[in-house]
Amino acid sequence: MSQGFPSNHPLDPLSPAELHSVITGARTSWGIGENHFVITCQLEEPSKTKVLGWKSGDALERLARLTVLDRTRAEVYEGVISTSGTPVSWDLIVGAKAPVVITESELAVAAVLRDEGVRAALKKRGVTDPDTQVYVETWPIGAQIPKYLDDGRRLVWTPMWLRPTLESNVYAHPINGLYAIVDLQAEQVVGIEDNDPTPIPMTPGDYRLSQTGGGIKLNDLQIVQKDGASCTIDGWKVNWERWNFRVGWDHREGLVIHDVRFDDNGVERRIGYRMSIAELVIPYGDPSQGTYRKNAFDTGEFGLGSYTNSLTLGCDCLGEIIYKDVALLTPRGDVKVIENAICMHEEDHGILWKHVDIDGHVEVRRGRRFVVSSIVTINNYEYGYFWYFYQDGTVEFEAKLTGIVLTLSDTPGVPHPSATELEVGLWAPYHQHTFCARLDLDIDGAKNTVIEVDSIAAPMGPENVHGGAYVTQETVLADESISGRMLDIISSRYWKIINTGKKNHMNKPVGYKLIANGNSYPLASPDSIIGKRAGFMYKHLWVTPNRRAERYPAGEYPFQHEGGAGLPEWTKQNRSLTETDVVMWYVFGVNHIPRLEDWPVMPVERIGFMLKPVGFFKRSPAMDVAPSMATCLRCNGDASKPCTCNH
Ligand code: CO
Repeated sequence: MSQGFPSNHPLDPLSPAELHSVITGARTSWGIGENHFVITCQLEEPSKTKVLGWKSGDALERLARLTVLDRTRAEVYEGVISTSGTPVSWDLIVGAKAPVVITESELAVAAVLRDEGVRAALKKRGVTDPDTQVYVETWPIGAQIPKYLDDGRRLVWTPMWLRPTLESNVYAHPINGLYAIVDLQAEQVVGIEDNDPTPIPMTPGDYRLSQTGGGIKLNDLQIVQKDGASCTIDGWKVNWERWNFRVGWDHREGLVIHDVRFDDNGVERRIGYRMSIAELVIPYGDPSQGTYRKNAFDTGEFGLGSYTNSLTLGCDCLGEIIYKDVALLTPRGDVKVIENAICMHEEDHGILWKHVDIDGHVEVRRGRRFVVSSIVTINNYEYGYFWYFYQDGTVEFEAKLTGIVLTLSDTPGVPHPSATELEVGLWAPYHQHTFCARLDLDIDGAKNTVIEVDSIAAPMGPENVHGGAYVTQETVLADESISGRMLDIISSRYWKIINTGKKNHMNKPVGYKLIANGNSYPLASPDSIIGKRAGFMYKHLWVTPNRRAERYPAGEYPFQHEGGAGLPEWTKQNRSLTETDVVMWYVFGVNHIPRLEDWPVMPVERIGFMLKPVGFFKRSPAMDVAPSMATCLRCNGDASKPCTCNH
């Protein structure tokens, strides 16, 4: 079942009709035309107060923020316009460089393939038919620009791969030592780096079913819910179990979750206002010519949401699925609908809790979780964003990383310390995938405080004669002078966000805690170019007061930005963080040392975090969950009664 439009709430994603009105209005009012590219068209969210005060039936005044590139002047403009096409504001963003949009990538690829210098260099490497045999990727050049081109123009840098047959995995055949630099505005190759014509590795990296056979089969598994999934979906609002929340989608960030609430014995309690992955940056750790510039901000430099997949029932998603379509404006200003962009379903998640009493009495509950997900493909990689809602009050985010590792070629067997040799002469450089979640949580209201909790061993002595004692130590993150925090495995550190104005039955503030599900730390020097441009990645948690203008941790326009923007800059203001509307920015990622088993397509890697209630409820909300009707052997298949057997 697929659902899409229209919009009937202030936070609903922009509908095709609204996008059409926006672009029509923008063309009339601001002269958007042939010489402009749409970078993003985003819902301009109303203030939190307005949204929370809005009731069904109230007037719906929706605004969009249209960010465009004026190609003739290489300038970025942001316009705010109503979704019926009435302009509100139009501003030049001084100094901003636009991210590279897909149409520019296509133009840049064409420029590379028709360039005589590139063709000659390819011929030297034995590539005789570039038009059909060469695959070109367009990478933001970062701030690593040759001096002679460093005059402020927008550039991409283009690694290339050979496609021996139409169905070949191009990443098995990197063309080494040949990189074109393309001026995006001029649509021309302005530089060719031609250094190291290592032979192109030719071991195929086949992964298509027609090539691999895929002969390992299991018996059929079907997920059947004859009464449908246990949820009601009203537009973009989801009600499942005691949870309700709104699903959103953004051109830049992709999947967004809004206004998360939990029904606590008849009282609807607010937990999260807006949760998204606000940035994703992938610094590569190999200094060789083919890699050192690979430091893409997939959210801020590519516009991750633009690359959202259409999902397939039975493959991407299994069971009783509800899909949502989303819509966006293409760079040329056409309305594009991505069907089945967001997948929603519930799934069995093993036992929720269990206990066998001394007398043999058994209580066990099966758990389910509700899943909201979407997947993007950006060049070689896939990223799945999965939000889970559990019956014990937990919310989890999990990124699923899959796709194909980036490759380069080097002489077989040579020392190449920052890459793994996958096949003879085919190398996969080390790299890190670093995400930053922007978590505007509202724990029973907007006025919250974040506390760091460490478990500390008590000193041995009269108070601790056996030496096993430990205590928890709480540090209030009172202001931005201590906003940037690090995980600490020795002290089992976690962070909780509490509402000091709302106490639980033990007279302690209600709260939620953020728990890391694995993490890493950047290995690029903080003084490196990528270290400066992605300065946010050197802390695992940042806390800031909630500001509408502070949306992305590396700033609004990271493309060719020299660095320093975003969280490191904002937090210098040393603003107070107690009993205020705060945002938690959680930075997490994986350090990817490619394995042979990551080739030719990497099995899914997972990384994420949990938000768990801590003194938010009176006791475990999972106690209220009804037993499932089991058909175990002991119960003799009597599905009408709960399973209480002890087996
Ligand atoms: Co990776």
